[in-house]
Amino acid sequence: MKAKTISISNQKGGVGKTTTAINLSAGLAITGKKVLLIDLDPQGNATSGLGISNDKFDYNIYHVLIGRKTIKRATINVREFAIDLVPSDISLIGAKIELITSESRESLLKDAISKSSDSYDFIIIDCPPSLGILTINALVASDSVIIPVQCEYYAMEGVAQLLNTIRLVRATYNATLDIEGFLLTMYDKRNNLSIQVANEMRQHFSGKVFSTHVPRNVRLSESPSFGKPVIYYEEKCAGAQSYLALTEELLSEAS
Ligand SMILES: Nc1ncnc2c1ncn2[C@@H]1O[C@H](COP(=O)(O)OP(=O)(O)OP(=O)(O)O)[C@@H](O)[C@H]1O
Ligand SMILES: [Mg+2]
Repeated sequence: MKAKTISISNQKGGVGKTTTAINLSAGLAITGKKVLLIDLDPQGNATSGLGISNDKFDYNIYHVLIGRKTIKRATINVREFAIDLVPSDISLIGAKIELITSESRESLLKDAISKSSDSYDFIIIDCPPSLGILTINALVASDSVIIPVQCEYYAMEGVAQLLNTIRLVRATYNATLDIEGFLLTMYDKRNNLSIQVANEMRQHFSGKVFSTHVPRNVRLSESPSFGKPVIYYEEKCAGAQSYLALTEELLSEAS
């Protein structure tokens, strides 16, 4: 069967995309799903967050996009967490320039993924904080998109722009691209603003916001520096529990 491919995207920086990509991947893997995590950000945070430093790989998503390596050849099997990873590093910045002159530049990732799609249940793509050619490639390649929204000032800023990009991708390359859901992140129940943002989002995007929200939780911010998804760092913490709940919610919707 073909994998379900989900982009984690928001052009706003620091809203919890990578945290979601890593911990949702780990949650799905722990339920026995076969998961490929694609790091599509030159910052390489999903890669380092799984404890993979860039001296551990010769090829990365850049080599896949420029057609030099297959996904399979660029994949690292991170056995500890039962996750397959296509890593990224700063060389991906070069791809942006090279891709712009390439002919089918919007569907390079989709074409690359199609050859590996049968091997997985889920392919999760961690997008960079921009709406450039990398994110377009992710959206063209995906069945759906999860949009993390930080429960902070200006949370909804930029969401309209992202929705426009999704509309554009639907109209041109990927008519069936679905919004899997908005995910409220860094929620602080003691903070009125968090409650306000959550209420606004649920009103404005009724039925499209995951019931699970991710609390602000220091364990979530510590675990990447230990190279671990949070469930392998401190399973009982609120952050870990929220990502397990998100995994369940996603799986129950998918079935
Ligand atoms: N729920 C949370 N509670 C506390 N800290 C969090 C939470 N989610 C993410 N963080 C921390 O906030 C920072 C930004 O998170 P993350 O890297 O996941 O965002 P991002 O959207 O991927 O950022 P970028 O746009 O730079 O790729 C990181 O230091 C991360 O550890
Ligand atoms: Mg990130």
